[in-house]
Amino acid sequence: MKIGPFFMDNIRLIVNEVVKKIKNSDNEMLESVRSEYFGKNGILTKILKSLSHYSIEDRKKIGFETNKAKAILESEIEKRKEDLKKALIVQKMEKEKLNCSSIFYFPFSKGSFHPIVQTMQDIVLAFKSLGFSVAEGPEIETDWYNFEALNIPKSHPVKDVQDTFYLDGMRSLLRTHTSPGQVRVMEKQDPPIKVIVPGRVYRNEASDASHSSTFHQIEGLRVDKNVTFLDLKVILTKFIHKFFCCGELDIRFRPSHFQFTEPSAEVDIQCFSCKGRGCKICKNSGWIEMLGCGMVHPNVLKCVNYDSELYTGYAFGIGVERIAMLRYKVDDIRLFYENDLRFLKQF
Ligand code: DAH
Repeated sequence: MKIGPFFMDNIRLIVNEVVKKIKNSDNEMLESVRSEYFGKNGILTKILKSLSHYSIEDRKKIGFETNKAKAILESEIEKRKEDLKKALIVQKMEKEKLNCSSIFYFPFSKGSFHPIVQTMQDIVLAFKSLGFSVAEGPEIETDWYNFEALNIPKSHPVKDVQDTFYLDGMRSLLRTHTSPGQVRVMEKQDPPIKVIVPGRVYRNEASDASHSSTFHQIEGLRVDKNVTFLDLKVILTKFIHKFFCCGELDIRFRPSHFQFTEPSAEVDIQCFSCKGRGCKICKNSGWIEMLGCGMVHPNVLKCVNYDSELYTGYAFGIGVERIAMLRYKVDDIRLFYENDLRFLKQF
């Protein structure tokens, strides 16, 4: 038997037609296409079965073209099957979409951030707008980071077991301040540094109206060439004015002592309640203590292998609870931790 002049073209035409059909088929139709072409009596099967009637040369041509057609159609059928599967999933998902609008019918009231978190976020935002980046440190610290690297020698009274919660047989401790964050940041990067480290801190002391064994601080650190005490004054004044919106109130820097800064200072703000005349809030002094600060002690810079001849820096530590108490006129720190909704709902 000889193949007709259009035999090959016919196979290609069939393939084109069937591909179109497959693209519009559902699963059932795909099965009937499969048996129509590849089944026992399928068109392509029949052609392959009849190969023995042709010359060797024609057999090769017909075999090649028929197998190619088979491969194309099979892959098109598989593709279509996948598409149908995906479409089914999409359809299912559309149907099962969660209707969130109904949630509002439940009698749940909206929550809000805790006043300490709100205050912390606002302080962080204020410093971010002054060009500070934000870092974090661990709450479980070693003696080295919490004390020694900060120029607090082994025998210093702040390390008294009364003040510090020690863990692991004194191998580690709950950080007593966020200042170890300074050391951790400086260890990781070279100057210039302009960073704040917010976090929770712990002291082994009994609670009263102005003390709590757990509280929050925000540490600040800037190290670069030629950083001076004036830079420190400028940045803290800007922060206080920004945060309390009180451009007209005086700020004063009072000499103080911290082991990791030299010179050290405490910053007071003129009492915003009595404008300096003296009242209950400022205990008749006219001033309210805000934070501790100073120029980073050269020993601290040396501990992290900074050249203390080349670089200088300032640091500060802000007590978040103190600021929140002033801001919201809360007179007992313990109220923040009692989780009494009557109190918390006011913020
Ligand atoms: N770490 C101090 C404290 O907990 C606060 C402090 C004071 C931090 C002065 C500083 C600083 O960075 O310069 O009492």
